[in-house]
Amino acid sequence: MPPSVQSILKKHQVSPSIMLLFKMDRASLLLLIGFCCFSLIFVGSLLVREEEEPVKSIPTTLSGPFTPVTVPLDHNFRGNAIDLPSDDPRLQRTSAKAFEPEQISISLSTNYHSIWISWITGEFQIGDSIKPLDPDSVASVVQYGKVKSLDKVHSQRAEGYSLIYNQLYPFEGLHNYTSGIIHHVKLTGLSPDTVYYYRCGDPSIGAMSDVFRFKTMPVSSSQNYPKIGIVGDLGLTYNTTSTVTHLIKNNPDLMLLVGDAAYANLYLTDGTASDCYSCPIHETHQPRWDYWGRYMQRLTSKVPIMAIEGNHEIEEQVNNTMFASYSARFAFPSEESGSKSTMYYSFNAGGIHFLMLGGYTSYDKSSDQYKWLQRDLAKVDRKVTPWLVGVWHPPWYNTYAAHYKEVECMRVALEELLYNAGVDIVFNGHVHAYERSNRVYNYTLDRCGPVHITVGGGGNQEQMAVKHADEPGHCPKPSSTPDRFMGGFCAYNFTSGPAAGNFCWDRQPEYSAYRESSFGHGILEVKNETHALWSWHRNQDMYNVAGDQIYIVREPERCLVRAPPPVMVWDE
Ligand SMILES: *[C@@H]1O[C@H](CO)[C@@H](O)[C@H](O)[C@H]1NC(C)=O
Ligand SMILES: *[C@@H]1O[C@H](CO)[C@@H](O)[C@H](O)[C@H]1NC(C)=O
Ligand SMILES: *[C@@H]1O[C@H](CO)[C@@H](O)[C@H](O)[C@H]1NC(C)=O
Ligand SMILES: *[C@@H]1O[C@H](CO)[C@@H](O)[C@H](O)[C@H]1NC(C)=O
Ligand SMILES: *[C@@H]1O[C@H](CO)[C@@H](O)[C@H](O)[C@H]1NC(C)=O
Ligand SMILES: *[C@@H]1O[C@H](CO)[C@@H](O)[C@H](O)[C@H]1NC(C)=O
Ligand SMILES: [Fe+2]
Repeated sequence: MPPSVQSILKKHQVSPSIMLLFKMDRASLLLLIGFCCFSLIFVGSLLVREEEEPVKSIPTTLSGPFTPVTVPLDHNFRGNAIDLPSDDPRLQRTSAKAFEPEQISISLSTNYHSIWISWITGEFQIGDSIKPLDPDSVASVVQYGKVKSLDKVHSQRAEGYSLIYNQLYPFEGLHNYTSGIIHHVKLTGLSPDTVYYYRCGDPSIGAMSDVFRFKTMPVSSSQNYPKIGIVGDLGLTYNTTSTVTHLIKNNPDLMLLVGDAAYANLYLTDGTASDCYSCPIHETHQPRWDYWGRYMQRLTSKVPIMAIEGNHEIEEQVNNTMFASYSARFAFPSEESGSKSTMYYSFNAGGIHFLMLGGYTSYDKSSDQYKWLQRDLAKVDRKVTPWLVGVWHPPWYNTYAAHYKEVECMRVALEELLYNAGVDIVFNGHVHAYERSNRVYNYTLDRCGPVHITVGGGGNQEQMAVKHADEPGHCPKPSSTPDRFMGGFCAYNFTSGPAAGNFCWDRQPEYSAYRESSFGHGILEVKNETHALWSWHRNQDMYNVAGDQIYIVREPERCLVRAPPPVMVWDE
């Protein structure tokens, strides 16, 4: 006998009120259905009304400065970040032939009308008898157009250049590395806010990539802004993969990497996981860069990535050469923005002018970087790019014990220039946690100072920053703070304010608005000339949930841009 409806319902523990339905006669059932419909409509209309009013209004910087907030450490999400092993399927070459493109990525030039396409062909070599490849042996060609088929009529062709780099260690027992062929091609004459399809490679040997697509930036004006994803200190751990997956789901038009990408220097040259600062030289395992490039292609082949160097890119080698991998692998609009270096440059993305600054190269008043920055700032037209955003790796306003006051020399050298230029927001990494400042200038709350935001929680293998310099016993010794790659000692005690005479505050400093030890990424959505929505997305939440969210509001009438000092022509 088949089981009765009632016995099935009983088995599945359905509530008695539903069971009642099956016992009722037809008339009372109709009555009940009518009542239910009415209640649904009534409750529904209440819900709709509720949705019209924002559930929780997003604060704006106009109601700041805010009382400092520290989100307590969530021990559930503490766990060690573990690197993907070299045999993870996501880190293998997907292309079958050695000269087929891999590690494909795109970067912006200075404006919407051009874009860089980069990729690698050939095999890297590591070991005792390496022989650098001839970069000219494989051509650098991109076919692109507005239709996916990239047929002859609708597509164009651009050619670029190629290079290799070496990572050489003149020490017994260390393995040398020589890269595959790195290709960079600039596409020019593009339309704004337009989808393009492209494939890259060397058509003469039949080694072309699949077809990928990207969207150009909008025209620079006070009306147009791309959606920007911001990450720092990524590495290549399982936590990095959550950060990147969440970032992709939030669908950015552009991505900023605020330094520290592959963390190849957490390995010895033989590929053993070991961070050796006391070895004759701080070794690296360069294939980690190739693994990183392969993993990141899911994002970087579609969304332009703009990177700036971090300390993990230093990678010192023979003849005091540094930053070889960083400088060779990424494309930078350095030349286009009048910089002679891969270590600093600028670009426009819609109505935002980005200053990508170098913390690990000279920045004092007589340096090339300082003079370049003066020239660049003099060219900024705030009618075209109302927003001015600074990006560099080590944060000036950091209240964690890790890297506390490490960057004082850079702050002393550049802060006045950037403040007078009216920089609105600064993005940093380096400290493996999240922190957002109140508007601040020279350690003093200042309604016209930038908001400084640290997003160093990309998920790399090193420890998350959890200690604060203002907690008992966690204030570092001043003499321990300088970084030998950052030049000099400038970390003095405060001379004014509640912490005057001391090196650290005795509570969360007033310039720190919000801090939290977690991994994740940020999204910047500029709405118009005055309002930008900033959202911090923690990996333990759904990708579209914001852990910290604020409107950063400009006040151009109140905060007048002071002209930078005149640049002497004979400086150039
Ligand atoms: C890092 O990932 C591991 C699992 O792979 C997870 O247990 C841990 O909570 C993550 N850490 C953070 C800070 O999200
Ligand atoms: C690596 O390169 C350096 C610099 O050219 C050289 O001195 C060293 O002998 C090389 N090491 C090996 C193992 O080939
Ligand atoms: C290191 O520099 C010296 C002197 O400029 C040069 O002769 C040598 O070839 C360089 N070595 C390498 C491996 O680049
Ligand atoms: C910053 O503050 C310090 C100490 O209060 C002061 O000596 C210095 O002149 C200030 N710098 C600027 C650029 O205002
Ligand atoms: C700086 O402050 C620390 C306490 O934070 C104090 O021990 C030290 O003496 C101060 N140094 C100077 C030069 O005032
Ligand atoms: C700018 O955008 C904000 C947030 O969307 C809005 O409240 C404000 O009215 C806008 N201002 C102008 C001038 O459009
Ligand atoms: Fe760093």
